[in-house]
Amino acid sequence: EKKQVIFSGIQPTGVPHLGNYLGALRQWVKLQDEASPDTTLLFAIVDLHAITIKQDRYALARRRKEMLASLLALGLNPKRCIIFTQSSVKQHSELMWILSCGASMGYLGRMTQWKSKLSLPSNASPLDPADNKDALKLGLFSYPVLQAADILLYNTTHVPVGEDQAQHLEFTRELAVGFNHLHSSSRPLLTVPQTLLSPAKRVMSLTEPTKKMSKSDAQQKSRILITDSREEIHAKLKTALTDSVEGVSYDRERRPGVSNLVDLMFHFDHGGAASPEELARGLRGLSMRALKERVAHVVDVGIRDTRGRYEELMGGDERALIEYAEDGARRAEVIAEGTMKRVRDAMGI
Ligand code: ADP
Ligand code: NA
Repeated sequence: EKKQVIFSGIQPTGVPHLGNYLGALRQWVKLQDEASPDTTLLFAIVDLHAITIKQDRYALARRRKEMLASLLALGLNPKRCIIFTQSSVKQHSELMWILSCGASMGYLGRMTQWKSKLSLPSNASPLDPADNKDALKLGLFSYPVLQAADILLYNTTHVPVGEDQAQHLEFTRELAVGFNHLHSSSRPLLTVPQTLLSPAKRVMSLTEPTKKMSKSDAQQKSRILITDSREEIHAKLKTALTDSVEGVSYDRERRPGVSNLVDLMFHFDHGGAASPEELARGLRGLSMRALKERVAHVVDVGIRDTRGRYEELMGGDERALIEYAEDGARRAEVIAEGTMKRVRDAMGI
């Protein structure tokens, strides 16, 4: 039995919202808490991915710090996990270049995320479009190769991701298998990782519940941050969009707003219900206003310890946060350099 290595990354987008938390970060903490002692866990703040779009240097530094404090506040333990910033481990860029020499342009062009960046329908042919080719950046096109490097550097066996990243994981596997085929003599050089699909459903925007909750939504009220105060949580839920049907019922298609609220409640406190449907049946007599208050309460109770720890970390000595990240980077680099030595050696560079 091979030892498990779990790797995942998140961009330095500042304080996470409930979508990031329920869709990804909560799973990381759970994996940490349930991992056997010989499992290695690595969690990276992937700032090299963030620069595929234009960034302000000060805002980037601030968001990186906020994300680090958030990860720690949520319960990731730097003694148990390797938590680090991607750009401080240079091997990511080096392996990316090597992998990109074996990466297919056609395959990259078929990535759903790339197509959505081009605003192409997902069934469009990959290489035709774009009369705006000069504005399209190579880094945005090739960032799945960097993602593959992130994963493959650490001999990762399992990658927890959301549905939207499953295609990139498949691409990572293809790169690893291709590399091993070309360059491994006896045992495979690169470990081919498995996808651990996050079980959570998409958390929807509070103001427009047919869209997912997202940091890029201009409406601040569309999302709850994991550090929002009790008052902010109540205010945002109060203005959440529901509908004029009387009472509570669960139907993601026809009642997206109400169902999203029930899902939120279910995630934080299912109250013994086995499913959101069952939870909704128990709440059917509630008015919208009463439902929103109940949801606000369970969300507040669910995140208030995190909020407290976050405030402590951000208000405390800055040096402590920097040291967590530097220590993580040192530990990550040892593993990454081990992989790179074997890769360089096998390639004759
Ligand atoms: P955003 O959509 O706010 O830009 P990211 O794309 O940075 O968020 O996503 C970071 C992680 O959070 C990913 O694993 C993604 O799948 C997850 N995630 C983001 N938004 C949601 C959401 N609304 N529901 C569930 N998971 C989400
Ligand atoms: Na996004």
